[in-house]
Amino acid sequence: MSTPPAGKLPLPELAAMKRRGDRIVMVTAYDAPSARLADAAGVELVLVGDSAAMVMLGYESTVPVTLDEMIFLTRAVTRAARQPLVIGDLPFGSYEISDEQAVASAIRMLKEGGADVVKLEGAGRMVSRVRAIAESSIGVMGHVGLTPQSATKLGGFRAQGRSAAAALEVYDGARALEEAGCFAVVLEAVPARVAERITQALSIPTIGIGAGSGCDGQVLVWHDLLGMYPGRTPRFVKRYAELAGEIGGALEQYAGEVRSGAFPDERHTYAIADDELARFEAALAARGGV
Ligand code: KIV
Repeated sequence: MSTPPAGKLPLPELAAMKRRGDRIVMVTAYDAPSARLADAAGVELVLVGDSAAMVMLGYESTVPVTLDEMIFLTRAVTRAARQPLVIGDLPFGSYEISDEQAVASAIRMLKEGGADVVKLEGAGRMVSRVRAIAESSIGVMGHVGLTPQSATKLGGFRAQGRSAAAALEVYDGARALEEAGCFAVVLEAVPARVAERITQALSIPTIGIGAGSGCDGQVLVWHDLLGMYPGRTPRFVKRYAELAGEIGGALEQYAGEVRSGAFPDERHTYAIADDELARFEAALAARGGV
């Protein structure tokens, strides 16, 4: 892989953090201002997740978002995130067909999106996709447990690995992804005890979302973490702010002030010198008035 820009977190540092017991912080972002804030907050990993389909683009699931759309969003994030590693999420349909398709999509994500590494969902048949991407010298993150791209097949957005057989399937999937060359694996909506056991079994870091505190790191979706929408959030989300309320209040105040004429006032306008204004009026008068 090419030398990362100065200040960029080196990929091997993640495994070193696991060995030291240092927790890894990951958050999603989909635009430059958010990426800049995540960078300033010192997070290690920024995921341009295909959750963008739902939280940014208004779709009901992550399935419709295209590789072109994900590259567009990733480009915005990579322009602003200096230190964190930026992970470009490969959307549904961009890697399922063949290993060649997976490698081609990963290459586009790096070359056009500027991502440092990529992520894809699933084990089983996807292990071969991971191996092909890793063998192309592209860092790849796995994702097992609840994999939203296959939510319909899984019976909805529900926890996975809650029986011994299902837990074993998640465990074996994570092990296979490590063996195939993943540098880390997301464990989503998996019982905490199962996630902890998987974390012990892997030498690569696990990043949990709804998988308890026994993982090596945690990820939350930007809009969940910041309370960017009203109403309920999934059980595993902690809202660290209530920005939807604040933004809504600010917009209502703005609308009220525009309508009442309270905005803009003197401070928000530009002045013109009296003599220039007089000349301007004279020029208008010379044109015959209005
Ligand atoms: O797309 C996404 O945001 C994700 C995270 C939930 C891990 O895959």
